[in-house]
Amino acid sequence: MLKIGSVCFSNPLISAPLAGISDFPFRELARYFGVSLTYSEMISSAGICAENDKSKNFTFVKGEHPISAQIFGRDPDMIAYAAQYFEDQGADIIDINFGCPVKKVSKQGSGSALQRDINRSKEVITTVRKAISIPLTIKCRLGWNPAEENYLEMARIAEGEGVDAFCLHPRYAVQMFKGVSYWSKFHDLKPILSIPIIGSGDIKTSEEISFHLNEYPVDFIMLGRGLMSNPWIISDYLKKEHPPLLETILMHYDLMLQYFDNELLVSTRFRKFIGKYVKGLSNASELRVLGNELTCRDDLLELFAKINV
Ligand SMILES: Cc1cc2nc3c(=O)[nH]c(=O)nc-3n(C[C@H](O)[C@H](O)[C@H](O)COP(=O)(O)O)c2cc1C
Repeated sequence: MLKIGSVCFSNPLISAPLAGISDFPFRELARYFGVSLTYSEMISSAGICAENDKSKNFTFVKGEHPISAQIFGRDPDMIAYAAQYFEDQGADIIDINFGCPVKKVSKQGSGSALQRDINRSKEVITTVRKAISIPLTIKCRLGWNPAEENYLEMARIAEGEGVDAFCLHPRYAVQMFKGVSYWSKFHDLKPILSIPIIGSGDIKTSEEISFHLNEYPVDFIMLGRGLMSNPWIISDYLKKEHPPLLETILMHYDLMLQYFDNELLVSTRFRKFIGKYVKGLSNASELRVLGNELTCRDDLLELFAKINV
């Protein structure tokens, strides 16, 4: 039985925290296709402490379970406050972001800049662990750069401080999202951890899910960018029936429309998804141009008429 703390899972597939992407409709779609756990987008602890509506709007929808609320920040008490807030809101798991390399986040000392400061990282973990009673996980990189690799130290601290699972995106912060992810690093991680390990990075097909689960000592696979263009990798891996391309696109759009209740806003937000969905089709560039002009649901239906599948 797959477990993180007291939370049980039917399969090893998790949808990743993706800022600007993993909103409620995206998570619902991933859950429909079969992931057993979804993550919120990263949420600012400072925003929660300041009662910032934007941060609170990132929150999950009641009844959406299991869900992990991912928090970023650098101040232990503020992260602990936000963690308590999401526990009260009904989150099943709290995750702390130690991996975001984006300048806006790291220049405040959060995300991967927090992982660079091992003493503060420990203080954050200890403070948050004491503040909540639901499972706690952390999501890390290998380190800031190869000379400052510290994921093993982070893992030891995490397990020692009562963290319930360790998620690793095996790239250095300086790589951002480019270059290779070093999955072989999981072989060094496994011997020092008894808590579950979540592997994240570059999994784009159901065959890659099986390969990585067999080849590397990870308990869960986290799917990020691969899901944005291809949610079928989940159902293919689980050997489940799934709706075809156009039905999937429309399902995603309609979930967004139900949630945001504003056709122009949804159409604008959907532009980034349509480009991914049509990737690989013979007239993808024409479809991308049309996708970038979406302003209403009818535009999407017109675009469908140009898709040959
Ligand atoms: C657009 C985008 C947004 C992301 N946002 C977050 C985030 O909010 N929190 C986080 O921990 N990681 C975030 N990540 C990293 C992913 O969760 C994941 O670890 C990484 O993209 C590698 O996996 P992939 O190759 O399957 O995408 C983001 C990545 C992308 C591309």
